[in-house]
Amino acid sequence: MHLNGTAKINSLDHLEIGGVDTIELAKEFGTPLYIYDVGLIRERARGFKNTFEKMGIKAQVAYASKAFSSVAVFQLMNEEGLSLDVVSGGELFTAMKAGFPAERIHFHGNNKSEEELRMALEHKVGCIVVDNFHELQLLETVCRDMDQSIDVLIRVTPGIEAHTHDYILTGQEDSKFGFGLENGQAEEALLRAIKSSHINVLGLHCHIGSQIFETTGFVLAASKIIGKLSEWKVQHDYTAEVLNLGGGFGIRYTGEDDPIPASRYVEEIISEVQKKAEEFNLGMPEIWIEPGRSLVGDAGTTLYSVGSSKEVPNIRKYLAVDGGMSDNIRPALYEAKYEAILANKAGQPIQETVSIAGKCCESGDMLIWDLPLPESAQGDLLAVFCTGAYGYSMANNYNRIPRPPVVFVENGHAKLVVRRESFEDLVKLDLSLID
Ligand SMILES: Cc1ncc(COP(=O)(O)O)c(C=O)c1O
Repeated sequence: MHLNGTAKINSLDHLEIGGVDTIELAKEFGTPLYIYDVGLIRERARGFKNTFEKMGIKAQVAYASKAFSSVAVFQLMNEEGLSLDVVSGGELFTAMKAGFPAERIHFHGNNKSEEELRMALEHKVGCIVVDNFHELQLLETVCRDMDQSIDVLIRVTPGIEAHTHDYILTGQEDSKFGFGLENGQAEEALLRAIKSSHINVLGLHCHIGSQIFETTGFVLAASKIIGKLSEWKVQHDYTAEVLNLGGGFGIRYTGEDDPIPASRYVEEIISEVQKKAEEFNLGMPEIWIEPGRSLVGDAGTTLYSVGSSKEVPNIRKYLAVDGGMSDNIRPALYEAKYEAILANKAGQPIQETVSIAGKCCESGDMLIWDLPLPESAQGDLLAVFCTGAYGYSMANNYNRIPRPPVVFVENGHAKLVVRRESFEDLVKLDLSLID
């Protein structure tokens, strides 16, 4: 069994994370429960940051907060000196509640509302990543109205899409995000923006995909964008200070995944940008990246209690847990695969193969198919690994199931950072028909 970070099996045969026995966590906080290994998040953050520092490159590592947004995780990322990528007024509000320095917040999104742009300007966020012509116009109007100026990155689609081990060159740049680099839209956006006295174009941004295990896509994207910047230098006397290559760095969910260290992505991106910048006689831009999953994904574990089981003769055994697609929609949404163990029988030999069902009223609510486990029984605790990214942040109240709490563990201490939703919370927005 592959264990991440500080996870280990203790002398009681229990899964321990951050020096805390997970059985004790279940007793104290109940199940389902999201557990985050804070030491591992710090290690991942430093993996990216230290490589830039070692290579003497000006950089920002922005945590893509969509992976897991909460006050505590934003405070942790701030402690580690990271920047923050937010995509909505809600994520920005959470960042403000966390006391995150606004100048290190980058505001993304393909349909920012006027209210969100005003909010970003009021809080003086570090930059806005402009996604389309509508937004550019709206931002100009809002800036003029508020008598403020703002730094922006122009989000471009470089015609490269990366998925896990493949990257695809997409000629038509068919995406809901950003301005096409090849079809002239990015250049048009630049020309409109640099005419504005309120908008300062810091540079360009792209995000080529998610759960990517190779550096090729990033290197190609960097190369294409710098090629275009070299043309814009000659044609428009424009020099970018920043090149943001987005996130998407892959993690290990199961034995099928073979991630590479953060340092490899960073080193290869830097060396391509340096090479191209020299080739075209451009200054070295700052390099920004936006990892989400690779900072928090494998630091998260979800602990469930085993409830009912059902044997379908000669076919399979279903084991149902007290959560499911309400706390982890990824298996139902895109057949995401996970590994899991019985946290209270962690050292015991494998004796059966079971399929883990959620408790939601949906046949597709299956968390794991064909999982090898020790003999399981009602009341056992199932620990599903690598649920730290896009788990809590995509959690929902389907079937009016309250969202689980989140606990941070580090150096033998557990701290509750998101409390469990109550039934009262579930109805707090509901209004009665009866006066
Ligand atoms: C613009 C942008 N940046 C960063 C990310 C983070 O990606 P990941 O969590 O795969 O690192 C995303 C994910 O959708 C994104 O859209």
